[in-house]
Formats: sequence, structure tokens, C-alpha cells
Amino acid sequence: MKNSLLLLISFLLLASFKPQDKGSMGAKINSLLTKMTLQEKIGQMNQLNEWNNSAEMEQTIRSGSVGSFLNIVDAKKSNELQRIAVEETRLGIPLIFARDVIHGFKTIFPIPLGQAATWNPQLAENGARVAAMEASAAGIKWTFAPMIDITRDPRWGRIAESCGEDTYLTSVFGAAMVKGFQGDNLSAPTSIAACAKHFAGYGATESGKDYNTTWIPEVQLRDVYLPSFKAASEAGVASFMCSFNDINGIPSSANVHLNKDILRKEWGYNGVLVSDWGSIQQMISHGVCTDLKNAAKMGVEAGVDVDMMSFAYTNHLESLVKSGEVSIKTVNAIVRNILRLKMRLGLFENPYVKEQNPMPYYTQESLQKAKQAAIEGAILLKNDNNLLPLTTATKKLAIIGPLSDSQADQLGTWCFDAEPEHSVTPLKAIQQLVGNEVSIIAEKGLTYSRDKNQQGIEKAVDAAKSADVVLVFVGEEAIISGEARCRADINLPGAQSELIAALKATGKPLVMVVMAGRPLTIGTELNNADAVLYAFHGGTMAGPALADLIFGKAVPSGKLPVTIPRMVGQIPIYYAHKMTGRPAQNIDLIDSIPVGATQTSIGFTSYYLDAGDSPLFHFGYGLSYSSFSYSDVSLSSNKLQDGKTITVSCNITNTGKYDAEEVAQLYIRDLVASLARPVRELKDFRKIHLKAGETKTVSFMLNNEQLAFYNANLVKRTEPGDFQVWISTDSQSGKPATFRKI
Ligand code: BGC
Repeated sequence: MKNSLLLLISFLLLASFKPQDKGSMGAKINSLLTKMTLQEKIGQMNQLNEWNNSAEMEQTIRSGSVGSFLNIVDAKKSNELQRIAVEETRLGIPLIFARDVIHGFKTIFPIPLGQAATWNPQLAENGARVAAMEASAAGIKWTFAPMIDITRDPRWGRIAESCGEDTYLTSVFGAAMVKGFQGDNLSAPTSIAACAKHFAGYGATESGKDYNTTWIPEVQLRDVYLPSFKAASEAGVASFMCSFNDINGIPSSANVHLNKDILRKEWGYNGVLVSDWGSIQQMISHGVCTDLKNAAKMGVEAGVDVDMMSFAYTNHLESLVKSGEVSIKTVNAIVRNILRLKMRLGLFENPYVKEQNPMPYYTQESLQKAKQAAIEGAILLKNDNNLLPLTTATKKLAIIGPLSDSQADQLGTWCFDAEPEHSVTPLKAIQQLVGNEVSIIAEKGLTYSRDKNQQGIEKAVDAAKSADVVLVFVGEEAIISGEARCRADINLPGAQSELIAALKATGKPLVMVVMAGRPLTIGTELNNADAVLYAFHGGTMAGPALADLIFGKAVPSGKLPVTIPRMVGQIPIYYAHKMTGRPAQNIDLIDSIPVGATQTSIGFTSYYLDAGDSPLFHFGYGLSYSSFSYSDVSLSSNKLQDGKTITVSCNITNTGKYDAEEVAQLYIRDLVASLARPVRELKDFRKIHLKAGETKTVSFMLNNEQLAFYNANLVKRTEPGDFQVWISTDSQSGKPATFRKI
């Protein structure tokens, strides 16, 4: 009897260690799992923030009660703590040190939204590589990036961290960032584990307010919100992070459907799933569990491997396992994921970081890459009378505005480790670029973006009056974009609009540069300015990048990764919308309706009486100093068969005077399907360089898979029928060709 019981126990143990990990890594994981106590396993699942009592922290490590830390960013300190883990714990399992390195560690690249505006994924890969090189030198081996939430709501502060509204663009940029962070080999000293976050649907937050509820039908979840995560998983991302929000009532940290059915079973993902900060504990506040013990059980059962700062697993998992409420098999599967990540990172062989002096920060090469990203991430929205680029024929320049010389604000959100003194501002960079050839008069007008005190405007106006051209740098301070920095009013804050109106009244040519964390409703200011560059928060090298663009040493090539609304009430507004049964036509705006008009006299279509039916600028839009013409699209066949591709081509000519870059964008529309489909969907894009006068043929391949969508039965397939296809300069223009999927 006793023997058969033992046999049964060893069988169950073996079953729970199911050796999915092959080779020596698998053997090592199995061997560790057999040696680890339950407490040691739970310790691996615990991620802690640094706290102020070193002796206590060291004791926590020694007792095997922590598997990873976040926010320790000092090579010497992380080595000291690592030494305790490696030499003074029973099994010597190394720690991982994590940090939010979102768009740079020391050398800051544009905010991710600005990087997406480059439509050049290589630049995002470069940014992540530089970030990994710099962060790894400080002992960081895990970053919580890229953020690949799709969002169509610029009220949400975290739009700054995202790649914007489009599923495909975000998928491409997310994968590029994963490659940059992780390099070719995760165990290389300068590679750091990336983290696809926030899984999932966080960007659909109701009313654009952070952490809020989301309601996402399964077809929309799969068509819009999940593909960027699937792409990250296919790019080999080492970890995922749960989102704070609930989807249809279920918080992500308890979402078995997302974390197990989709992530693990459908996608076969075997990296680590970490909770967001306190998100397991916050399920109590969501109202889906009674207490922390209940939250721990829900988290574990939903496959959340690492508890970041909820203390749920350390406090309650042991008793949950002992009482049989959580099986040891579940715990073992989780610990496997964590040990696998530590092995992939090479931490068992090389647990320590080399303490370097000097640190590899702000190298010329890194700064140059950051500058290039800031150049390509700035979008020219308007350029009346070809005011830009300026030449040194401009003898006197007024440089105005709260963002003209703010080293910290141009860095944007999420730069814990940046040193603003390294930022080169537009004012400094322009002074350096023009030297003595142009005289500059600088007058901020407002001291910071929210400043409502208009006393300084008079001096700014005097400066403008004395100048040939006025440059005004407006936008948002870094502190009003990012996490928990949502705004219900997304106009330029403070008295910036008044400042611009006063500058306009001088009659001087006015260039407005917007440095912000989100698309702002700048309709009024757009009318007041002759030229507008939308630069987002451009990072350390925002100044030199803008100086080059303004003086024509570089030609704008950025395109909007997100729609700019006219008014906040239009949100959510995005290019890939459905048609509705009553698309807008014969628009009568509110002031044109005759007094006493009868109810039926102005028609019944889908638009706003006070904002019409269009955004201020649509997705994909962006001008150049040059101009481009697109020929009609030609197709290799007007029929697409299963398993075949068709080639879609057009000729693009640079019809302007500047050598320049253009982003050719491939869109499709499924004209008739079992579910209403978007009026356009981006399927591919290419940034090409064209000399003035040059023509190039751009060709894209289209296959079945690219046309597929989830139908009402949640089956992903391409339905036969007619499709339109465009190659165009943005999401609105161009003439489509038609083909039939047979
Ligand atoms: C954010 C995450 C971040 C984490 C750790 C949370 O508040 O939502 O994106 O990685 O904090 O700093």
C-alpha cells in the first residue's frame, strides 16, 4: 500500500514536471524543480521594487523569497545583490533586474508614438538597441517594453507610449523593438529581455481614462487588439505583461481566456507573463475577488507567472497549495517559465554585470541615431508658401514658446534615467546651426505649457515684430502625458493659443512646432500659423533634429501614426472605421441650418453638426518639402486564388525640388463580407528615397492571409469577393484598383 502510494506520488510529481524543455536547459530546469521547496518556487514568482532597508532586502534574497527586482539601476549594487542570490541561497538561482526602459535609458529617443511616426522600423530597432546597450551596463536585464497597445483615444495619456491607432503599424514597430532590445542572442551581455505589454486591450479604455473598463467584442479583440501581441510573440519576445483593465468584466490578471487559451495554447508562448504593478491585488478593487488570497488564486490560475508588487503569492500561495486549492502542477508550470527566462538570459553562467568606466552612454553613434529618429518622426502638417525650410536669408529669427528651451520636457514621459542636461533644445541647436549668420531673439512668452499668466506675451510679441520669421515651440510638458495623465480637453494647455494668436497678429511669417505626448486639437492654431511641424516629444536630440528640418538640412518624411481630431467629442476617431448604413453626405453644419428648418429638411447621415465627418488630419498624413505623384495602381492579376499572391505596383515620382523620402502605403478594403469591414486597412508600407525628378516603381505582394478576418463564428478566414487596393501617400487619397478573391 505504502509503496503504491509512493509510486503514485512520484508519478504525479513527474507528470507535474512534464519535460517540455528539451536538451540541457530542460534537464537543468527539471533538476532544479525537483530540488526546490514550495517556498523557493513562490520566491521565484515574486517581483519586488527596491526599498529602503538594505539589510532587509539582503535577507529577503538570502531566504529565496524574491526572484526579480525592478528599479535597481546600479551595476555595483545589482552585482552585490546578485552575489547574495548566487552564493548565499540554497540553490544559487540568479535574480533578474528589471526597469521600464521605454524609449531610451540615457540617450532618449522620441516617445514611441514619435518613433512610429517615422514609418521606419529600423529606427525603432536602433532605439531599442541603444537602450539595451545603455541599460544593460547598469545591470538591467529586463525592460517592460515595447508597449504595443492599440489606441484610438488621444485623451489617454499612455498614447504617448504606444505606436498609435493601427494594428499593422504597431505590429511591425513592436517586433522591431523586440529585436532591438533582445539582439540576436538573449544571453549576450548587451541583450535585455523585452516585454510585450499590456496584455490586452488596455488602449480601448472607456472614455480615455487610465485603468478604466474596456468592452471589446471577441472579433474586435482578435482583429484589432491582439495581432501586435501575436507578432511580438512570433518575434520571440521574452515576456508579456498583463494589463490593468478588465475586458468585458474580467481583469487581465484573472483572464484565463487571454492568458491561457490564447497566449499559451493558441500561440504556444512559453515566455514569462508578469502582472502589472499591483494588478493582482487590484482585482479586489475591481470587485472580482474578496481578498488577497482569493486574488492570488485567481492570478495563478490565470497563468500569471510573476506577481509584481501585490505580495499576493508570497503571502498566500503556500497555504493555497497546501490546502489543495491550487495544484503544485500549476506552480511548477509557472516556475518553469521563470527559470527558462533566466537560462535564456544566460544568468546562470554570467550572473554579474561588468562594471564599466566610463559607461557607454551618449556615444556619438547613439546620439546620431536618436537624432535621425527625431528627424524622421516629425510630421509636416502645413507649409503655406513654402515658408519652410528657412534659409540664412532670414536675418533675424524670433524663437518663442514654452517648449523652445525645455531640456526635460522634450524627453517626454517614462525617462527615469535620463539626464535632462544632456538634451539639446531647439533654441540651443538653432543657435549652433546658424552661428552668426542669423541673429536670434529668444523670448519664451510663457514659462511652461500650462502657464496661464499672459504677462510675458507682450515681450514675445515685441521680439516677433523685430524678426523676419517667428518660430514658436508649443505643446505639452512631459508631466502631462503618460500613465495616469489623461486629459478631457486636448487643446494646447495654458495660454499657448493666446500666445499664438498674438504672434499671428504681428503679421510675421509664423512657424509652429508642436512638441507633445499626444495628438492635440490644434485647429485654431493651425489656421494662425503658416507652417506647422508636429514633433511629439523628440528626446535628447529633438533640438538638432528640428534645427535641421527647419533649415532644410533634412527634409520631413514623418507620417501620422494616429488621427488628429478636430474636437475632442469626435473621439474615438480612426481611419479604419466601418462605413455605417448612412455615410455622411450633404453635410449641413450647425450655423448653416436655417432658423425654423423642419426636422427632415437637412437629411439623416452620420456626422457631427459642429465637426462634420472628418478629422483635422488623417492617419498616414504628412507633407514633405518636395512633392510626389503616384501613378494608377496596377495588379499582376485581378484574381487572387488560394495559396497564390498578386503583385500590386505603382510608380512614384518625386515631382519637387528636394531629394526626399516618401512612405508608400498599401491599403485594402473588403467590399462585401459576412461582417462589415473597415473602409481601409493598412497592409504594408515602404519608405523610399527619391531624388528630385526620380521615379521608382514600388511593388507589394498581397496574399490570402493578409485579407483574412475573424468572422462571427470566430474563424479567421478570407472570404471570396471583390476587394479594393490602394497604394497611396496617406489613408485618404489615391485611386483604388479592384481584384477578386476567388
Ligand atoms: C505600468 C507598467 C510598468 C509598471 C512598472 C505600471 O504602472 O502600467 O507599464 O511597466 O508600472 O513600472
